[in-house]
Amino acid sequence: MLRYVLAAQALRAFSINDSTKSLYRKFGNLVGSRNRARGLPAHYLARANSNLRILEERNLIKNGAKVMEIGTGWAHWEALFIRCFYDVTTVAMDVWDNRQFSGFIRFATELNERLGELDRPAEQVEHARGVLDRVLACASFEAVYEALSFRYVLGVEHAYQSIADGTLDLIFSSDVLEHVPASATLGMLQQHHRMLKPGGATAHQIVMTDHLRIYDRSVHPKNYLRYSDRTWQLLFANDVQYINRLQVNDWQRLFLAGGFKVETIVRNTTDLSGLPLAEQFKSAPTEDLEVAVVSMIGRKSLRDSRVSARRGLNWLQKMPERADFDVATDNSRGIAGNDTTRRNVALDDCARGDDTFISNRDAR
Ligand SMILES: C[S@@+](CC[C@H](N)C(=O)[O-])C[C@H]1O[C@@H](n2cnc3c(N)ncnc32)[C@H](O)[C@@H]1O
Repeated sequence: MLRYVLAAQALRAFSINDSTKSLYRKFGNLVGSRNRARGLPAHYLARANSNLRILEERNLIKNGAKVMEIGTGWAHWEALFIRCFYDVTTVAMDVWDNRQFSGFIRFATELNERLGELDRPAEQVEHARGVLDRVLACASFEAVYEALSFRYVLGVEHAYQSIADGTLDLIFSSDVLEHVPASATLGMLQQHHRMLKPGGATAHQIVMTDHLRIYDRSVHPKNYLRYSDRTWQLLFANDVQYINRLQVNDWQRLFLAGGFKVETIVRNTTDLSGLPLAEQFKSAPTEDLEVAVVSMIGRKSLRDSRVSARRGLNWLQKMPERADFDVATDNSRGIAGNDTTRRNVALDDCARGDDTFISNRDAR
């Protein structure tokens, strides 16, 4: 626990002003580049492959699609992976430039060497080899973008403004949505809705564990659930490794409020026995709080979904007050209780009409 507290204090010190944040980023990129020189993180190959399978199983990806990766990071990893198997046009977006060309090439080289591990059809592997051969012949990110039909854009507003209404087939990310400020999440999803074609989807893997655990493995994977917003803000919250602490039920409401039909695919859970919960989390269903990693998919209806968005917004406004939510709240303790039946009633209520709420817990 000592390391947890010390790490939080160090990250808070880096969050003081723009200069300290910039120092943190330089330092982070230096450490990151050393790590990336060692090769692909152990879970990256399996993560990207299962994310892609989720898209394929739902017919959300096809040749010719226009796609966008948000929070593309240092190596455009998820976008590169998809591009290996599909001829898509990609907008790769992030909020700051943390790209590392040497790390990117290291990842691409390793992917080329490990394509055989992916259990994909021979013609897909062949396609990927052709793509990676072109990538590995490039000497700069600009050359890679040209070869892969990528466009790299920095800044949320800049990126979103550069995309016309109804022009994207798919928006995706991995390990990003937990870092989006809670107050910006609804606006982000509304922008996704605007940019997507009817029938398009926004699909995200979200890691819901306590990121401070990176520095202290002795704490519970969801240790942050102990703390009220007040304690969290006072002692642990920081800007440089911000996490929004949103849970599955929060995201479901947000996707609905953004105008989407939402599907939840639980990827990984953690046992909460013995973990005391802060009052504000006690009203959330335990099965939601137990989620460690989830995929959330929002689908834009083929027809106007403003009605469901309005219904979702009404529901969102009834959620328990959260310090960093930017929507009006009525201080009620929320519709969803601990009891699963009540929760399902609430979801059904929200989903009544043509926009169906789909919850896929079989993937647990
Ligand atoms: C943990 S990294 C994941 C990077 C990459 N997706 C990967 O898995 O390799 C989180 C990324 O989210 C980006 N990010 C943070 N806030 C964001 C926001 N509001 N919108 C889009 N990206 C954001 C960060 O800059 C960072 O690149």
